[in-house]
Amino acid sequence: MMAASLKKPSNPLTKSLIFTHDKLVPIIICIIGATTQVSTLFTLYFSWPTTTVIELYRPNVINLPSISLCFVYKLSKDVILETIFSRDTLSDIGQEISSLDLTLDELDHLTADLHNFVESCKVANASIDANQLFNMVDCENVSQVKVALAPFLKCFTFFAGKHNPYEYYRNDFYDDYFLLAELNANHSSGLSLVFVHDNDEEVAFNNGSPDMAVLDKTFYNKFVLTYYTKTNSELGFPYSNCMDYEEVHNKSRRTLIKQCMYTAIYLEYLAFPELSLVSVPNYLSNVTFDKGIPTSKFRAACEAIYHQPECKTHLFETRILKAEFDPTIDPGIILIKFGYPLGLQSDIMKSKKFNDIEFFCYVASIISLWLEVSILSVAKFLFHNLRKLGRNILRRRREAAKKRALLARYQQKQRKMNKSKAKISWISNGYEREFYLFYPKYMRSYGPVYPINYY
Ligand SMILES: *[C@@H]1O[C@H](CO)[C@@H](O)[C@H](O)[C@H]1NC(C)=O
Ligand SMILES: *[C@@H]1O[C@H](CO)[C@@H](O)[C@H](O)[C@H]1NC(C)=O
Ligand SMILES: *[C@@H]1O[C@H](CO)[C@@H](O)[C@H](O)[C@H]1NC(C)=O
Ligand SMILES: *[C@@H]1O[C@H](CO)[C@@H](O)[C@H](O)[C@H]1NC(C)=O
Ligand SMILES: *[C@@H]1O[C@H](CO)[C@@H](O)[C@H](O)[C@H]1NC(C)=O
Ligand SMILES: *[C@@H]1O[C@H](CO)[C@@H](O)[C@H](O)[C@H]1NC(C)=O
Repeated sequence: MMAASLKKPSNPLTKSLIFTHDKLVPIIICIIGATTQVSTLFTLYFSWPTTTVIELYRPNVINLPSISLCFVYKLSKDVILETIFSRDTLSDIGQEISSLDLTLDELDHLTADLHNFVESCKVANASIDANQLFNMVDCENVSQVKVALAPFLKCFTFFAGKHNPYEYYRNDFYDDYFLLAELNANHSSGLSLVFVHDNDEEVAFNNGSPDMAVLDKTFYNKFVLTYYTKTNSELGFPYSNCMDYEEVHNKSRRTLIKQCMYTAIYLEYLAFPELSLVSVPNYLSNVTFDKGIPTSKFRAACEAIYHQPECKTHLFETRILKAEFDPTIDPGIILIKFGYPLGLQSDIMKSKKFNDIEFFCYVASIISLWLEVSILSVAKFLFHNLRKLGRNILRRRREAAKKRALLARYQQKQRKMNKSKAKISWISNGYEREFYLFYPKYMRSYGPVYPINYY
């Protein structure tokens, strides 16, 4: 028995698919390869990857941003004491008297108001077109001036509000200033601050932030300023979960966070944090400021509420281009001129990592690499088969028409015969023998049943 089996060695390998189907195995391998690679690509694509594109450019046109003019003040002890004593209610006075003992309202009354601090402010009205000569208009006529207070700082914000139509073209403003302001520095303790920010944002004090410039009246009284912008844009859904806060909440994310923080802090401490700029008038006008409120906890909580990033943010950097002393300027006055930003602005944009066309090419090239599938081969295949199908249909139609003609002729013949041999019945008689001789295959399909199915 053993000898018999040795005589016929049957290697299972020779019977396996590799030998019996020499085309199938490579096709299966290639289909698996193509599928894995294409699915990897699709997984990557549907994770919506992005890349960052940084563009540096010299702007040809700028929009007038919000500009806040502020002064640092220091109230004398006498003034503070006098104010506290003049209150209707008696309140306990601490050891150290400072502006922190005064309420928002009291601070507002004791410090200079808009027209005492800003002696004049003119902005170029160049909103019409590039060719028209611009005229300078009163800054206050552009939009309502907003006031914000801290226990050491008072700010007047010009050009607030989204619908600010003022834009300036580089060619018109290369040598010209678009804003001229005269500040009365006698109200300040020496320093004036200038912030440049977004039109929809409230001014926020942040020591050392680049959107702030410090003007010291000690040596100079004439300043030329400008600003640079950094724009950050996120791609919308599905690339990121950014939100257009302006559209949804009518406020920027930073303003919403600031309001959320101050509200939470007020509810807990019945005071505002010392380093906050609170807008005036405020319905909490009898609230004071407090030192040492831990704001970071509140900031984290409020940032968690508005956790989605803003789709488009502008960061500003205020620059002093020139500071000089001009003896012709009245003592106590400082003159500010804003020039067109001639330096580079930067745009940081998120962009799609996969261009849709590129992605199509990746997928197509992988499929064709593995499976030899190309548009040409698919088109050829389709064209060939469609043509075949079309031809078949046409041929069948032609045959059917022929058959119909034949039958008609036959029936005519029958009718003639019916006339002569009226007694012969159709059913019993059927077709003539002659017909079956020529077309034996229609023997079954042509019966007396009418209409006849040709297909
Ligand atoms: C700016 O110029 C336009 C066109 O001349 C004018 O209609 C508009 O009133 C001006 N704005 C101000 C604030 O004067
Ligand atoms: C600008 O504002 C002043 C008052 O601040 C007002 O007298 C003047 O009519 C305003 N001009 C325009 C064009 O609105
Ligand atoms: C958005 O704010 C502006 C002024 O800040 C106001 O006039 C407008 O009605 C607000 N829109 C909505 C939808 O709240
Ligand atoms: C502020 O005034 C409101 C009423 O106008 C009063 O209810 C509240 O207690 C006052 N807050 C402080 C801190 O005095
Ligand atoms: C500022 O104060 C100085 C000295 O007190 C005074 O001479 C000057 O007129 C004041 N300037 C203004 C604009 O009030
Ligand atoms: C021929 O006559 C038979 C019986 O009279 C009838 O049933 C049949 O329909 C006739 N055929 C034709 C083609 O008129």
